[in-house]
Amino acid sequence: MQDFDLVVVGAGAAGLFCAGIAGQRGLRVLLSDHAPRLAEKIRISGGGRCNFTNRDVGPANFLSENPAFCRSALARYSSQDFIALVQKHGITFHEKHKGQLFCDDSSERIIQMLLRECELGQVERRQPCTVHELRTAAGGFELETSSGPLRSRRVVVATGGLSIPKIGASDWGLRLAKRFDHAIVEPRPALVPLTFDTQVWAPFAELSGLSLPVAVSVGQGKTRARFLEDLLFTHRGLSGPAMLQISSYWREGQELELDLRPDADLAALLKAAKQSSKRLLGNELAEHLPSRLAQTWLARLAIAPNRPMPECKDKDLQTLAQHLKAWRLLPDGTEGWRKAEVMRGGVDTRELNSQNMESKRVPGLHFIGEVVDVTGWLGGYNFQWAWASAAACARAM
Ligand code: FDA
Repeated sequence: MQDFDLVVVGAGAAGLFCAGIAGQRGLRVLLSDHAPRLAEKIRISGGGRCNFTNRDVGPANFLSENPAFCRSALARYSSQDFIALVQKHGITFHEKHKGQLFCDDSSERIIQMLLRECELGQVERRQPCTVHELRTAAGGFELETSSGPLRSRRVVVATGGLSIPKIGASDWGLRLAKRFDHAIVEPRPALVPLTFDTQVWAPFAELSGLSLPVAVSVGQGKTRARFLEDLLFTHRGLSGPAMLQISSYWREGQELELDLRPDADLAALLKAAKQSSKRLLGNELAEHLPSRLAQTWLARLAIAPNRPMPECKDKDLQTLAQHLKAWRLLPDGTEGWRKAEVMRGGVDTRELNSQNMESKRVPGLHFIGEVVDVTGWLGGYNFQWAWASAAACARAM
């Protein structure tokens, strides 16, 4: 039986990073993954350019049943730390939007960087390698794997979330946690497009492909979430950054509110246009919204688009502005794990040590990355959590 100081299960973002740091600290590390190709989610992330972090990261950018849990790890391994590593490896990058950093060429550069860090730590890699059995034993753990039995002082579970099963996602980490009596916060698809009842959506389905900046909100009072981002109409519902962000907060049965002109007082603009413009209403509205969307709304509210502005009724203009500034919608679901970028929920952090991600139930067993109930916003936050939780774990060994 082979002996290791550390076995990391899952060679994605968090597992690769953790294994490299632990190896460089002198530990004998084995990194195993059941998939033939490692780090597939890094590969496809950010449209192939990996939005590897965000310049501005704080606990407020994350969802968790225990919101303070991520604070310590994020403070001890910041986005600046990861940027410095990326620069050390000569990877060039650019900022796209709201602090989001992307590789200039390809996400493959981040994978190569993580593999190089593992090499420097003399990390042994096995893939595809399936862990059939993991049990506690004197001085640590015994594992039965498809490449033979192993013994290790510590085990790190870095098997990620449930989204995109066809590229290696599994519930192995969640099942293992349950077996050791860990509570699981219900896993749900997050950063995912929302869908609507086919009949309700029929008038909007033909807008598929149309995109515009909006404000979207859900919830009330302290639980209210609001994002100013782009919205994308699809055949089945709504997508784009605005919808992905709000989907992480949305629960079945909750209405969303959309402001289709968040930067303007539409009622005042239409009122002023009535005095000063000779355009037809449809043309005037198309000055303020994409024209196809303007036409759809006029038809929906049964307001004639071909009436000259001076002849429009105040009541109609008010109704229009009201609907466009506060469109209330009830999604009937999400596009599910197939399209979700991440999993919300996971191993309950109240039973993990926030300093080193170690289980409070099973000494020597750690959980890092997306398998843990810490879910970031869209924009590089999920990778930053993978790096920060991995660093907290590996540096404490
Ligand atoms: P990750 O999923 O990276 O790795 C888990 C690993 O465990 C995989 O290699 C898997 O094969 C392995 N595994 C699973 N079950 C196993 C088992 N039973 N035995 C052994 N191995 C097992 N985030 C971000 O910050 N910026 C971005 O640009 C994007 N873009 C993006 C696009 C798309 C399409 C998706 C689906 C996701 C993103 N994300 C993202 C999210 C980001 O990819 C994700 O949060 C991190 O990869 C999570 O890192 P982990 O290491 O926890 O899991």
